[in-house]
Amino acid sequence: MGPEPGTRGRFITLEGGEGAGKTTLSRALTAKLAAEGLPVLRTREPGGAPGAEAVRGLILGHGPWDPVAEAMLHFAARREHVARTILPALEAGIWVVCDRFADSTLAYQGAGQGLSREVWETLCDLALGTLRPDLTLVLDLPPERGMGRALARGDANRYEMQGADFHARVRAAFLAIAAHEPGRCAVLDASRGPQEVLDLSLAAIRERLGIAA
Ligand code: TYD
Repeated sequence: MGPEPGTRGRFITLEGGEGAGKTTLSRALTAKLAAEGLPVLRTREPGGAPGAEAVRGLILGHGPWDPVAEAMLHFAARREHVARTILPALEAGIWVVCDRFADSTLAYQGAGQGLSREVWETLCDLALGTLRPDLTLVLDLPPERGMGRALARGDANRYEMQGADFHARVRAAFLAIAAHEPGRCAVLDASRGPQEVLDLSLAAIRERLGIAA
């Protein structure tokens, strides 16, 4: 059963620090929404479109970059992702669940690396136009717990290798973003188990987006 004609899909982003369980949640959430009969696409950043995946290789494989250059690379990848993957899906009535989006740039390049909010806002306006997530689930976890999980995976990227201070600033930034936009963001306690985090997410989706998942 396809979406009703003219119904735009909803755009849900998952945000949070390292090892918070975004990937596990995005898989479970997508499966659950699909089981409810909703057309749904799971994607992630940096990446999610061929050009954006190439830029991901540049971001993660090179550097350190100047913070503005690094933010511009993230937004270049994001613009490709939006133009080629996210917007066409939403316009076709498909729900999009995206692992990281623009809030990650404000947290990592802003709070983490010193990029100003003004530059971030300018890049958002340039790259995204009016597109903003309908709902952002912020998975909150003390960084030392998240880093334990991330390091146990054994393939730490250069952000994960930053010090405890960096990760504390990133966490505080996500909480500040959520406090600043409580209508868009729901903070979830990511120290709970995967099923509980999924249930909390579904409750937030029901409450904020009004679907019977
Ligand atoms: P990834 O392996 O996808 O990590 P994770 O599973 O934690 O999302 O690597 C993405 C890394 O890029 C992650 O450490 C956070 C960082 N990042 C930024 O610094 N800024 C951004 O705008 C985005 C989207 C990601």
